[in-house]
Amino acid sequence: MSRFIIRPVTPPDLPAIAALAREVWQSTYLGIITQAQIDFMLEQRYGYPQLLADLEAPDKWLNQAFDKKCRAGFAACEIRKGEYKLDKLYIHPKSQRRGAGGALIDHAAAHAQKLGYHHMILAVNKQNEPAISAYRKYGFTVREAIMSDIGGGFVMDDYIMERPLAWDEPGCD
Ligand SMILES: CC(C)(COP(=O)(O)OP(=O)(O)OC[C@H]1O[C@@H](n2cnc3c(N)ncnc32)[C@H](O)[C@@H]1OP(=O)(O)O)[C@@H](O)C(=O)NCCC(=O)NCCS
Repeated sequence: MSRFIIRPVTPPDLPAIAALAREVWQSTYLGIITQAQIDFMLEQRYGYPQLLADLEAPDKWLNQAFDKKCRAGFAACEIRKGEYKLDKLYIHPKSQRRGAGGALIDHAAAHAQKLGYHHMILAVNKQNEPAISAYRKYGFTVREAIMSDIGGGFVMDDYIMERPLAWDEPGCD
């Protein structure tokens, strides 16, 4: 039984989610991408109107994990091109390596399965070794390497990782 409580993000949570994202991004990506790219991507993805639109979209889900009363992190999932994608996963530096990321991944996997998907995917920066190691621990393997133009003169240099979802199909022998 996980020690984390997972619940959906609601509009009043959004300022705290955006602040948490900025803190985690600064400590994770400085040294991987430039400060200019961090600022551009945070503005693009974590501005209040964008986050609110994400909450209202029928095929996007934003959940947060609490450790007692402390918000440990959040995860965003969506259906992208017919696949179930873990689109964001950010745990506060003080809460990392205590299982919150794993709990949010398990929650997303159960949701994907409930919707009938047989695998889930994610994109991770090729230089983000701690995250790649976490994803391997939770059953993901690298499917392909991609380079995407995200505008503003910036690119994302990522691996797409995929995890099969366990399907128990009794009676099919
Ligand atoms: C990557 C991340 C989501 C994992 O969540 P977490 O709650 O820290 O991870 P868990 O406690 O569930 O699992 C721990 C595993 O993650 C990996 N990991 C996490 N932090 C790590 C670090 N600093 N160094 C090396 N491995 C690390 C290891 O595989 C670790 O397993 P181990 O402790 O048995 O060695 C989280 O550390 C995080 O938010 N990192 C910064 C932001 C980020 O990179 N997000 C992913 C973007 S694609």
